[in-house]
Amino acid sequence: MKKQVPPLHDRSLKERLTGKVDAIEILTQDHRKVQKLFREFQKLVEQDDGNTVRKEEIVREACALLTIHAMVEEEIFYPAVARAVGDNEIMNIAKVEHDGCNDLIEQLGKMRAGDEFFDARFIVLGEAMNLHIREEEHDMFPRVHKSGLDLDLIGRHIEKRQQELLVERGMDVDYIRDINLTSPHAKAVLTKEGLLP
Ligand SMILES: [Fe+2]
Repeated sequence: MKKQVPPLHDRSLKERLTGKVDAIEILTQDHRKVQKLFREFQKLVEQDDGNTVRKEEIVREACALLTIHAMVEEEIFYPAVARAVGDNEIMNIAKVEHDGCNDLIEQLGKMRAGDEFFDARFIVLGEAMNLHIREEEHDMFPRVHKSGLDLDLIGRHIEKRQQELLVERGMDVDYIRDINLTSPHAKAVLTKEGLLP
C-alpha cells in the first residue's frame, strides 16, 4: 500500500493568512529546500566520516524533489510564463538545463554512496541547480511578477500536480512548507491559533 503523502503545505492555515497559493513562492520554497540538502551533503563530504546512510537519504530526497520540481515547471509554469512574457526562448533554455540535471539524477539513481563519482555527480548537480536557481530568481521571476500572470491560479495547478506526482511515486517526502512569518497579520493569526508564543 502506498504511504500517506503529507500535504504540500499547511493549506488551510496558509489560506487563512493570505487566501492565495503563489506559484513563485512554491517554486522558491523548493529551491531553498534542495539547497539546504546540497549544503548538508557538502558538509558530510568535508567531514569524510563514512556516513553513507545519510548521504544516500539526502541524494534520494533531493533527486525526488528536483524531478517533481522540473516536471511542474515544464508542464505548467514555463508554458504559462512563455505566454505571459511572449518569450519562448525562456522555456528552451530552462528545458536544456533540466535535461542536464535529469541525466545526473538518472545516473545517481543507479548508484550507492561510496561508489566512484557518487559524491562528484551530486556536487555537480548542486552546482547546476544553483545556476538554475540564480537565473530563475534573479531574471525570470521578476519578469513574471511584472507580467501580471495569475500566480495564484498557476500556484494551485502546481500544487495539485506536485501532490499527484508524489502519490504516483509513493513518495514519503516531507513537503510541509514553511510559512512566511514576516507579516504582522500572519503573526497575529498564528499567535491566536496557539502556534506562536
Ligand atoms: Fe526552479
